[in-house]
Amino acid sequence: MCGIVGYIGPKQATTLLLEALRRMEYRGYDSAGIAVINGTGLKVRKAAGKLSNLEKQVAGDLPRGTVGIGHTRWATHGAPTTPNAHPHTDQSGRIALIHNGIIENSGSIRKALLKRGHTFTSETDTEVLAHLVGELYQGSLEEAVAAALREVDGAYGIAVICTEEPDVLVAARNGSPLIVGIGESERFVASDASPLLEHTRSVIYLDDGEMVILTRDGYRVRDLEVKHIDKPVNQIDWDLATIERGGYEHFMLKEICEQPESLANTLRGHLLEDEGTARVAGLNLTDDELMSVERIIITACGTSWHSGLIGEYMLEELARVPVEVEYASEFRYRNPVVNDRTLVVGISQSGETADTLAALREARRRGARTIGLVNVVGSTIAREVDGGTYLHAGPEVGVASTKAFTSQVAALALLTLRIGRLRNLSILQGRQFIQALTSLPAQIEQILSRTDELKVLAERFFTGNNALYLGRGVNFPVALEGALKLKEISYIHAEGYPAAEMKHGPIALIDENMPVVFIAPRDAVHSKIVSNIEEVKARGGKVLAICSEHDTEIERLADATFTIPQTLDLLTPMLTVVPLQLLSYYVAVRRGCNVDQPRNLAKSVTVE
Ligand code: F6R
Repeated sequence: MCGIVGYIGPKQATTLLLEALRRMEYRGYDSAGIAVINGTGLKVRKAAGKLSNLEKQVAGDLPRGTVGIGHTRWATHGAPTTPNAHPHTDQSGRIALIHNGIIENSGSIRKALLKRGHTFTSETDTEVLAHLVGELYQGSLEEAVAAALREVDGAYGIAVICTEEPDVLVAARNGSPLIVGIGESERFVASDASPLLEHTRSVIYLDDGEMVILTRDGYRVRDLEVKHIDKPVNQIDWDLATIERGGYEHFMLKEICEQPESLANTLRGHLLEDEGTARVAGLNLTDDELMSVERIIITACGTSWHSGLIGEYMLEELARVPVEVEYASEFRYRNPVVNDRTLVVGISQSGETADTLAALREARRRGARTIGLVNVVGSTIAREVDGGTYLHAGPEVGVASTKAFTSQVAALALLTLRIGRLRNLSILQGRQFIQALTSLPAQIEQILSRTDELKVLAERFFTGNNALYLGRGVNFPVALEGALKLKEISYIHAEGYPAAEMKHGPIALIDENMPVVFIAPRDAVHSKIVSNIEEVKARGGKVLAICSEHDTEIERLADATFTIPQTLDLLTPMLTVVPLQLLSYYVAVRRGCNVDQPRNLAKSVTVE
């Protein structure tokens, strides 16, 4: 979603804001803008398209000023044009505001403001909010923002400045993330920590309904009424090098290649091999509480939902607890059967996905215990759930999720061990599972050492605009994930299907031009999937199979294969997904696509 940043301090704001926007461009990249206050008033610069357009526009004429705000947009209201880009100003031109989120009642507020003589230059809900703040301004920006926010419904992370008060920056959040950075005589506000790290590691995570008033030397947090709120200052412990490309051509490739390490980090400190179980202290659930769980609901979106499907196979098979996996966007608006014996697991890389957050809140309202498997430390989901575990996969910047997926599956494996050993799993099975888990990082390393094979396969197979991914059992979700990766970064239409379901429809699509990727490791359903490959071959389809080493049967049938090392059936997804990530990466690069910032997408989807 949109990235917002604000600065107040001794330095020139423009350069600092542009650098910050560069770090957050992955959040949204259809237009960008900045506003700074200097002696002559408010300087606003905006440009449609990539941030580089804005940089070109201000080069040679950098607006000067030591307080400012910046925004990189992912359009919700209105097309990605320059007038719709943020910051937006009020009617008087004294106030500038940036916003991440959606103001749901902006239509009615706009109408009322129009009646009172306001004129608008954009189609955005944000401009409406800026005008409302301006109208309510009576000498205190803080009070005007609070009063305006009391009138709006919806989600927002905002930052506001005003020429009448050049030593103040006001920010507020409700549903969209906002972090405050506390530096030496300087203060920052941003949608995430990435732009803050080179300036400070001391941060405050704002919660919904909170506002912060920043000056060069101080800060205050309050609610929308008048209540002062004491907030702890947290220290961020990862550094800038971890979020830079480190010699790789794209973040996505870097993140794919980091998986041996990120996966090991997810598992580190949790495995108790002697007892054949996992320690997941953050769950905040006693053995008795875990024993009383009658049902698990996993809720998530996109790639995280796919990892949830794999969790369903693991938890049902080894822990024997009934599991349902629901799209968070559906769960939040149904009338789900949930009670205090339901454990609801939210999975999210960003920890900010609006639908997942809302689904977890709904589950809590209905009495369920909620836990989060989240990557971003201090994110809203991580703070709101009753317990959970961080993935420790490190920052994921590429918009297409890769290393977070394998870490999510690993975290679900930990949960499976923890619950399974209380119920159905023997100590020997637990130990065997742990041994297989700890071998995975080295096995992924082996796969990564053969990326050249995948480059060739990408060139050979994906020549058209369609592809089919088929898998069975625990590798059916991997088929979904492989198809999602391909379509989101290369814009090739791809579908994931359970391999046996193919004959109920998609088989009609198969001809010599349709690449069909089978995910077919040697597992309990191997013979079944071999028959499905035969069915595709019989219709002239072109088959690329991800299979186990020395699988002569599949090697004989498929047009090409890529082999993965042997592991337990339930853990194969963490190996089979890696070649699929690399395939889509190489296809997208060959097609000249912007791999790290695919069109229309955003890294963290903070609107519904
Ligand atoms: C796909 C992708 C998205 C996210 C989804 C959920 O590559 O990145 O499908 O998985 O938007 O995001 P999180 O995990 O941050 O909740």
